[in-house]
Amino acid sequence: MLESPYVTQYLTEHFSEADYPTLEGYERRGGYRAARKAITEMAPDEVIETVKTAGLQGRGGAGFSAGLKWSFMPKDDERPKYLVCNADESEPGSFKDRILLERGAHQMLEGILIAAWATGACATFIYIRGEYAYPAVQVERAIAEAYAKGYLGENVMGTGFRHDVQVTRGAGAYICGEETGLLESLEGKKGQPRKKPPFPAQYGAFGMPTTVNNVETFSHVPHIIGKGADWFRGFGTEKSPGTTIFGVSGHVVRPGLYELPLGTPLSEIVFEHAGGIPGGRKVKGVIPGGMSMPILPAGQLDVPMANEFLRERKTMLGTGGVMVMDETTCMVRAASVISYFFRDESCGQCTQCREGTGWMHKIIERIERGAGEEEDIDVLGDVAGKMEAKTICAFADAAAWPIQGLLRHFRDDFVEHVRQRKCPFPGSFEL
Ligand SMILES: Cc1cc2nc3c(=O)[nH]c(=O)nc-3n(C[C@H](O)[C@H](O)[C@H](O)COP(=O)(O)O)c2cc1C
Ligand code: SF4
Repeated sequence: MLESPYVTQYLTEHFSEADYPTLEGYERRGGYRAARKAITEMAPDEVIETVKTAGLQGRGGAGFSAGLKWSFMPKDDERPKYLVCNADESEPGSFKDRILLERGAHQMLEGILIAAWATGACATFIYIRGEYAYPAVQVERAIAEAYAKGYLGENVMGTGFRHDVQVTRGAGAYICGEETGLLESLEGKKGQPRKKPPFPAQYGAFGMPTTVNNVETFSHVPHIIGKGADWFRGFGTEKSPGTTIFGVSGHVVRPGLYELPLGTPLSEIVFEHAGGIPGGRKVKGVIPGGMSMPILPAGQLDVPMANEFLRERKTMLGTGGVMVMDETTCMVRAASVISYFFRDESCGQCTQCREGTGWMHKIIERIERGAGEEEDIDVLGDVAGKMEAKTICAFADAAAWPIQGLLRHFRDDFVEHVRQRKCPFPGSFEL
């Protein structure tokens, strides 16, 4: 991991240097200068404007403008304001936040500090997925160092600005990555998403105005403030500036993390950076952004990896988790694994989601075992269509989209299961 010659961009530039995770090592490479600049030289609104102008899109999945989200925090409100750093990273196929926590905890903390200054937040809760034991240790260590140096606490850098940071560990539920499910879990309750409105900026953690951002989103911020919005816009596309860390997994020669500009063609990521498909086999399909994003067939890998282009192909960048499947892969099995996950992880509040995820898995499993009928394929598409845009949170959409994508591009795999009354891909992965 991270041994690729391509990992030379700003986020991960120093990740292979042993002392970089320490405060001393981070400061030696210019660390915390951007936070000092923001707090001592820039008004909060100026920081927000800079991040807006830079065009930083959230890297947690939805791609919402970070600067715009910060501007939603109420200004004339006496209540304490909070930030939440979403380090739940439960999306299958996504593992970029892990390295940012393990190797770049100070970079993330500096981003948090700048965002806190911009929004007037007095405290940040970092919510780390339960399975990330080592990343949590690294973050705790970095927080302790930052307190000892006066970068956190009552009097940040001697400026009179106060900011506290605390780590909370999740317990392994995918839905606790959804921002309001996360807030419930943070408060010690069952991680069930809240109805919106009110949005977190009005009623967030413990009822206080709150902004939730992803680990990677915060990690870009020191670079934007330190080097400017124009510098940041020098990477990526006009509508999607900056780099991102693509996590490549599945049937490739070199699975791993690759920091590349947004807009890099998917084919370049798969065939150049990740070394292509092993054993001279052909690619069959690629999920571009973590498991909840619809798959693209082999013929569409020329797409630039930025939302404005991916949307034209009915998919999205999501978390940048690129999952590659070669020609041996049974797409009905893939659908079975995906639908099983969502059936298991639904929080159960909404009928469309609770029942829909269960029915999708039941039908797919029947087709996979050779017991399905052709009309089952239409019923499957119908169930998925009825789950979209009707529920408390976007989980139901995230469960329906990958199945719709598989039906759109690999319907023949489903039809062949029904006709042959068995799986026609004996070389595929085992269920
Ligand atoms: C089911 C579901 C799971 C999610 N899981 C995560 C997650 O693990 N990490 C994350 O940062 N965002 C996740 N999100 C997105 C968050 O709700 C939220 O949009 C994000 O943390 C905002 O940060 P950003 O604007 O910096 O991207 C998830 C959303 C949904 C609907
Ligand atoms: S869509 Fe699913 S996960 Fe989201 S609140 Fe409804 S039941 Fe829970």
